[in-house]
Amino acid sequence: MTTSVLLLLLSFWYLLAVIDSHVLKEILAWKALDWKFKSKEDRESAIENERFVKGNAMATQIEYLHDHRIAITTPRFKEGIPATLSTIRESQIGCGKDGPQSPLLRPYPNWKWNNGDMACDGLTSVTAAKADMCGRLWVLDSGVVDMMNPYRTTVCSTKIVAFDLASDDAIREYTFGDYILKSNSILINLAVDVITCEQVYLYSADAIEFGLIVTDTASGDSWRIEHKLFFPYPSWGTLVSNRQHLDLMMGVTSLALQPDYNPDSRKLFFHSLAGAKENFVATRILRNYSLASSMPQEFYFSNGEATSQCPNAIFDRRGILFFSLVSSGALVCWNPATEHVPENIIPIAQNPETLKFITGLSVDIHPFEVDHLGILWTLSTSFIEYMRDAMNPDMVNFRIFVANTRDLSHGTPCEYAQPYGGPPPQYSGVPPPMGHYSPHLLPGPYPPSYQHLGG
Ligand SMILES: *[C@@H]1O[C@H](CO)[C@@H](O)[C@H](O)[C@H]1NC(C)=O
Repeated sequence: MTTSVLLLLLSFWYLLAVIDSHVLKEILAWKALDWKFKSKEDRESAIENERFVKGNAMATQIEYLHDHRIAITTPRFKEGIPATLSTIRESQIGCGKDGPQSPLLRPYPNWKWNNGDMACDGLTSVTAAKADMCGRLWVLDSGVVDMMNPYRTTVCSTKIVAFDLASDDAIREYTFGDYILKSNSILINLAVDVITCEQVYLYSADAIEFGLIVTDTASGDSWRIEHKLFFPYPSWGTLVSNRQHLDLMMGVTSLALQPDYNPDSRKLFFHSLAGAKENFVATRILRNYSLASSMPQEFYFSNGEATSQCPNAIFDRRGILFFSLVSSGALVCWNPATEHVPENIIPIAQNPETLKFITGLSVDIHPFEVDHLGILWTLSTSFIEYMRDAMNPDMVNFRIFVANTRDLSHGTPCEYAQPYGGPPPQYSGVPPPMGHYSPHLLPGPYPPSYQHLGG
């Protein structure tokens, strides 16, 4: 048997083991992130000239890729971060009695793209990377280094680069001009809205200047949308986690696209980091600039609030939203057909030490597997300690967990949602759907918990 077949079998066996597990399983853990350099000499010179300072990197997002890699973003918050976008292979993941592994990260797509030499032709400071079902990885490069310094300067243009995951070649690039961004803009999160593989819209959240950037990838046009729901709430401006405090008046950091295959009813759920409501807008509105800019009443917010802030959220295949509560160190689920109130926001895992600050969430959804509701990948970090320059190098500061969302929601009110229907015929470049799909139970109705704005 060749090594690659063996690896494939091992990773398949591994996935089955994860699906059988009824708990959130910790599979990766690092005290500090470290990279696989080209050679021993290259590593030594990187350390010597401070291109690599161990302990300076903070991971913010993870994305599961169908070729058994996991992408990890490390924005250049500080100096000494050798790569801003990296991957690890699923075969490097720990399982069983060896416990979580701490593999070296590989720069994506290579070192050249990640050199950060301020020539601005590669990736400067990546804040999000999202795969689509057409074999592409969409990478959001904020272009901003030294991010938390209010007197920082934008080093390179903010851009989105698409890579073909089969070849890892860059296939598209969209650069945002001054009319799209403002002086302090930092684009922090990305949602990829696939109508067909040729017709894709991107939504990027400007968490510092409070806007949403829409990019029509077919035409290359982008437009900026502003709305009062993109602002932070001062009453939620202090994060408290594991006895640590941090004031962070950030706008929208959470973007979660509903897994509704009908693009006319698909909704983007979003919220500000300094906030506890959940909001949504139909993506059909965002895709039309004149509608998005003239109809603020099409943006809805929940009457109810969660008990804490939450950096990010994600839907599984059923349309159950998974997110975290910073102040209680909990991973929770919520069925958007119910009111967004604490009684309906169900803790499914809780540990103030290991689930401190969950910024990275990825759901591995295979579009043609009916019973597969999605494997949830969760990244928890010591983000607050890092921002306060108080990260303890002797402790585990980065953890990645996996779990089947069916098992996570078992026995909770999140269990009763059904998967969305299969892909519509206009999806091209993917195999035809198999089997029987349940009818749509979501979206809506959204009556009691949501309000129109204005009107
Ligand atoms: C946007 O919506 C308006 C109003 O419904 C419509 O007239 C217009 O054709 C739409 N634009 C595009 C590009 O679809």
